[in-house]
Amino acid sequence: MTLWGGRFEGAPDDGLWRFTVDTSDRRLLADDVVGSLAHVTMLGEVGILEPPDVAALTEGLELVLAEAQTGRFVFTDTDEDVHTAVERRLGELTGAVAGKLHTGRSRNDQVALDLRLYLRRSGRERIAELGTLVAALSAAAERAGDAIVPSYTHLQQAQAVPLAHHLLAYAWMLLRDVARFEDAIARLDVSPLGAGASGGSSLPLDPRLVAERLEMGGVFVNSLDAVASRDFVAEYAFCCAQAMTHLSRLSEELVLWTTVEFGWVTYDDAHTTGSSALPQKKNPDIAELARGKTATVIGDVTGLLALQKGLPLAYNRDLQEDKVAVFHADDTLGLALEALTGMIGGASFHPPPPSSWVTALDLAEVLVTRGVPFREAHHAVGRLVAQLVADGRTLADVTGDELVAADGRFAAEDVTRLTAEGSVAHRRTAGGGSMDSVRAQLATLRRLLSD
Ligand code: ARG
Repeated sequence: MTLWGGRFEGAPDDGLWRFTVDTSDRRLLADDVVGSLAHVTMLGEVGILEPPDVAALTEGLELVLAEAQTGRFVFTDTDEDVHTAVERRLGELTGAVAGKLHTGRSRNDQVALDLRLYLRRSGRERIAELGTLVAALSAAAERAGDAIVPSYTHLQQAQAVPLAHHLLAYAWMLLRDVARFEDAIARLDVSPLGAGASGGSSLPLDPRLVAERLEMGGVFVNSLDAVASRDFVAEYAFCCAQAMTHLSRLSEELVLWTTVEFGWVTYDDAHTTGSSALPQKKNPDIAELARGKTATVIGDVTGLLALQKGLPLAYNRDLQEDKVAVFHADDTLGLALEALTGMIGGASFHPPPPSSWVTALDLAEVLVTRGVPFREAHHAVGRLVAQLVADGRTLADVTGDELVAADGRFAAEDVTRLTAEGSVAHRRTAGGGSMDSVRAQLATLRRLLSD
C-alpha cells in the first residue's frame, strides 16, 4: 500500500520499489505509534477531530502499539515504510476513521519525530551501559591493588604508576562520553511535529501539546529546519564514534597486555576464543573486534555528514539513509560495551615490575629539592644513565657510593628512590600516579556511579 495513489494511474515499478523501500525504519514502529497517539490527542484537544474519532483512533493505535510491543505486528511486502504500515494496520482495525490520522501531518515531520524519540531512548540505554563499564573498570582497578606498571610515552617506559591509575584513565574518558550523550539528548529532545511537509498547516494545530504529551523538552521554531535537519543524527553517531574510539584504544591495550611479551593480564575462558589451528592460543577477539568495528562506526559519522552536505531545504528522500548509519553506530556501541564489560570483569592482572629506568626522573627531582636547577639535574642523571647503559647495567644496580661519586650532591640513601614502589610512594601531584590519587578517584567514581 502507498499513501499517495490518487495522482498515479499505474502501480509502482518493481525496480522502484526495491530501490526506494528501506525496511530499516521498522524498528521505529513503537515510536511511530506513540507519536501518532500524541498527534491524535492534540487533534482532539484543538477541536480538529471530534471526540468519537479521537476515541476510535486512540483505541486502534493502542492495539497497534500492543502488537508492536509483543512482536505480533506483521509488516507486509507492500508497506512502503513504517508509517504506511501503521496506517494500514489501523485501517484494518478501525475502518475508515483511520484516514483521519494523518490530518495536519506529513511523513516528513513524522519520521523526524520518530527518530528523535528512538534516539532519546537508545541514548539513555547507552548511558547506562557506559556506566556499567565504568563500574567494571573501577572494580578491575580495585582488584589491581597496588600493582605497579610503567606509564608510557612514545611506547617507551616513562614513569612508574599504579596499574589502577592506568585503568581508571579510561573510566574518565567514558564518563565524558556519558556527558556527550546527555548533551546530544538534550538537543534532540525537541518535537518537529506540526512542521508538516515543509511549511506547517492551515489547521489550528498546537505542536506544544504534542511535545508535552511526549515529555519532550521543546518544539521546533522553524518548520523547514524541523524537517530538513539531521545534525541531531550525526551528533548522536559522533557520540557513538567517540565512545567507540575510547573502547578501541582500551582494546588495543587489552590485546597488547595479554601477549607473552607483556604478560600483564589473563582473561577468563568465557571472554576469549580459541584457534582452529594453534592449540595453545587464547585470543582476545572481543577487543580486536571492538577495535575493528570502531572503523565502521567512524564511517557512519562521515556518511551522515556527507548525506547532509549538498541537500537543499527542506526534506529530501536522501535523508532516509540516515537511519541505516545511525542504527549501525548505536547497535555496534551497545554490543561492544556489553562484550568489553564482560571481558574486563573476567580479567586477572599480574603485571611484571617496570624496569628501574622509570625512576630516572625521581633521581633528578631529588637534586631539584637540593636547589639544583632542573636542567642541570636532568643532565647529571642523563650522564649516569649513559654510563650505566654503556656498562650493560641499570639504575637498579647502582650503589649509594656510586651515586655520590656520579654527583656530589647525591646522598648514598638516595638509592632507596630507585624502585618503582619508591617512585610511586613519593608521587605528590593530585591526580598523578599515586595510590592516594587512585583512592581519591575510586571514591569520586563510586559517588558518581551511585547518583
Ligand atoms: N522513509 C522516509 C525517511 O526515512 C520517510 C519520509 C518519507 N517522506 C516522503 N515524503 N517520502 O526519510
